[in-house]
Amino acid sequence: MSGIRSVGVLGAGLMGSGIAEVCAKAGFTVVVREVDEKALAAGRRRIENSLSKAIERGKLDARTGDEIRGRLKFSSSLEEFSSLDLVIEAIVENLDVKREVYRALDALCGPETIFCSNTSSLTITEMAAATQRPDRFAGLHFFNPVPVMKLVEVVRGLATSDATVAAVTAFARALGKEPVACRDNSGFIVNRLLVPFLLDAIRAHEQGVGSLEDIDTGMKLGCAHPMGPFELLDYVGLDTVYAIAEIMFAEYREARFAPPALLKRLVLAGRFGRKTGRGFFEYDERGNKKG
Ligand code: NAI
Repeated sequence: MSGIRSVGVLGAGLMGSGIAEVCAKAGFTVVVREVDEKALAAGRRRIENSLSKAIERGKLDARTGDEIRGRLKFSSSLEEFSSLDLVIEAIVENLDVKREVYRALDALCGPETIFCSNTSSLTITEMAAATQRPDRFAGLHFFNPVPVMKLVEVVRGLATSDATVAAVTAFARALGKEPVACRDNSGFIVNRLLVPFLLDAIRAHEQGVGSLEDIDTGMKLGCAHPMGPFELLDYVGLDTVYAIAEIMFAEYREARFAPPALLKRLVLAGRFGRKTGRGFFEYDERGNKKG
């Protein structure tokens, strides 16, 4: 037993909504926080769509669906977070914004509350340093889509205690996930290997190696990847990938982490991928690829 019963999820975007859903499904009471009522409603809709789809497909019965809904609370204020066992942060990939939120949380939450970040590329240590509880601060890195993907990277920062690592590892197992232990380096295990590959696919396309579709088909049929790199980039969100690449490039100073010009241009044009209806490809309102 991890000793964790109540969970706060900060941010209800792609990742936060999925994390809140799996926590509620596993029996935890969950408070979800967003910046304003509009973002909160969007997060709530994402969770509701996912639950109704599971009920439609017979993976969940209606009564269990209602029980899960009953364990979820939505709020645009941070006050609700004052007495929780665990807070999982899944807000924008920006160190200054995250540090500001952690400073506020640290002042609000009881000393026992464990903080976990779902960051893709920042280090746990640099976020924990904004708080007075670096021993109760760890990384819990989920994968997209959270209800489907089994992996969770558990990250030990420089000051994370053994008890915290044990508690969050047990918590990840209680969610039905498979935890792997990672050192606190930018990108942990998976993004350290995946991000240079995704960026290289963009560079290959820029160099005229192949069309978007042919590169995707090549990696799906030639390497048995479930998604091609451009489908995956659009799925993750190009704004998020761009932020990750900037952070990893600043950390490692290696050209393979540098964001390609085309990625930057798409982000500047507001084409963030599936979540905005257009990235490398175009999507309909249900998020299905057009054409
Ligand atoms: P997203 O853009 O879908 O959602 C971020 C949400 O955070 C937005 O809804 C925004 O309103 C909210 N937010 C911003 N400041 C906030 C605050 N102070 N309090 C509460 N909410 C706030 O981004 P996504 O993709 O969900 O990413 C979130 C985190 O998860 C990032 O750190 C990202 O690197 C990480 N991540 C993303 C993955 C992906 O595939 N997109 C996979 C694994 C981790």
